[in-house]
Amino acid sequence: MALERTLSIIKPDAVEKNHAGAIIARLEAEGFTVKALKRVHLSRKEAEGFYEEHRGRGFFDELVAFMSRSPIIVMALEREDAVARYREVIGATDPAKAAEGTIRKLYGASVGENAAHGSDKTSTAAREISYFFAGYEVSPTASSAS
Ligand code: PPS
Repeated sequence: MALERTLSIIKPDAVEKNHAGAIIARLEAEGFTVKALKRVHLSRKEAEGFYEEHRGRGFFDELVAFMSRSPIIVMALEREDAVARYREVIGATDPAKAAEGTIRKLYGASVGENAAHGSDKTSTAAREISYFFAGYEVSPTASSAS
């Protein structure tokens, strides 16, 4: 299976509680390679832009306020079948429904404050990675490296 990339966000709640190190270590142990990483504090407008597809939904304002309240850590992660495997490792959106041992079960508190975000498909991953990283900030893929 080919290498694939996904966007990972360690959300404000997990960064505030100093869980970022444990989450990154877990992801590396699960076979993900960090191809790009930064800590950013989103403005409301930047959070709205990232979650544009959810505009109009009942939780949109709450989601934007939460994601812009304090810094997040964003990463481009790579491994085989990265999008699906990452979603397995973080678990269901609602930590109460997430499987034991998943990142959201371990570190999330509610469907809003759920510790981590992951891209839902490969086409979304490419768009989400480019939302946060310029091309030169992301390590080239093995096939494009000279
Ligand atoms: S969907 O329909 O599958 O796209 O929606 P879902 O994955 O369940 O949720 C999309 C993101 O919205 C967040 N969310 C919420 N935030 C605040 N309050 C409430 N009630 C709420 N419900 C969902 C959820 O954490 C998802 O964030 P991301 O960053 O995509 O994981």
